[in-house]
Amino acid sequence: MASRKLLLLPGDGIGPETMAEVEKLIALMNDTVDAGFETETALVGGAAYDAEGAPVSDATMALATACDAVLFGAVGGPKWDGVPYEKRPEAGLLRLRKDLGLFANLRPAICYPALADASSLKRAVIEGLDILIVRELTGGVYFGEPKEIIDLGNGQKRAIDTQVYETYEIERIARAAFDLAKTRRNKVTSMEKRNVMKSGLYWNEVVTRIHRDEYPDVTLEHELADAGGMKLVKAPKQFDVIVTDNLFGDMLSDVAAQLTGSLGMLPSASLGAVDDATGKRRALYEPVHGSAPDIAGKGLANPLAMIASFAMGLRYSFQMIAEADALEAAIAETLEAGIRTGDIMAEGCEQVGTAGMGDAVAARFRAKLAA
Ligand code: IPM
Ligand code: MG
Repeated sequence: MASRKLLLLPGDGIGPETMAEVEKLIALMNDTVDAGFETETALVGGAAYDAEGAPVSDATMALATACDAVLFGAVGGPKWDGVPYEKRPEAGLLRLRKDLGLFANLRPAICYPALADASSLKRAVIEGLDILIVRELTGGVYFGEPKEIIDLGNGQKRAIDTQVYETYEIERIARAAFDLAKTRRNKVTSMEKRNVMKSGLYWNEVVTRIHRDEYPDVTLEHELADAGGMKLVKAPKQFDVIVTDNLFGDMLSDVAAQLTGSLGMLPSASLGAVDDATGKRRALYEPVHGSAPDIAGKGLANPLAMIASFAMGLRYSFQMIAEADALEAAIAETLEAGIRTGDIMAEGCEQVGTAGMGDAVAARFRAKLAA
């Protein structure tokens, strides 16, 4: 039996209740297809701050380094608004990304046919939408130094964040985007602000060179990030793979999420470099949505983004392609059957809670695994 080590970090808010639905799927796969998943669970975010004094402890970092893949729920909430900046819940997630070297964040935005009417856009604009945002995740303004607020001593302060990219950082995310485009519709759109930012100018230059030297068969387009955001809302189906920096990727992926009907639907994969010796890569899978403190603990949250994140894990960390396809199909069929959580509820559908949705997907997934 294969051994596949998963670290579960449910985190805060709706993290634990959505993770519980993935734990059902893990147990199901161990029972029915001898998947051999071994799980450990640890704290992250505000929950870790409360219990361990830090949003991710060194012990948890060691577990994250040793496992094959991390499944991450969500972090944050008003309860921790007052904690020191370095210890805020989000700092736990950022340390995981940075210390594990997870530079490539894949955020697919797929519009399930059954949900086309849940989008705030017209059906024709988003029906059949299938785009992939490739967000640089360990650089840029999120991590650049200096990052501080200085007292100028004259009643004024100066707040500084630093946007910085080095050649290798742009090269590797560009290659990730081009490689992924080759498995899809063969088109990459790079977004930056070269008209205002030196880092945008250089980003554009490096992406253009990698394309010319290594991927001439892939179509490459460039957009200024503001115009790109506008086009994402106006006519999103013109895009295939969008590659962009950490901050623009954060914003554009929330926009893309809403195109599909709900933030509760979008999974993501954060991947490191492939280790030459082992052939493995570090990876963390997390929904794009946050901790939704307003509905936390009520059993109302949509677990589909968390479940679809697990499907990405099957695909990218364990090469369980058939199982990943089956799980994604189980999600689509559950939606086609009219089963909905509150965030995607529509007339004539059946409203269920977190566990009801998880069970509905699990039943269909089980049937597919058995077939
Ligand atoms: C995301 C989130 C995070 C980010 C927060 C929670 C730090 O918004 O993953 O998109 O800004 O990257
Ligand atoms: Mg975000």
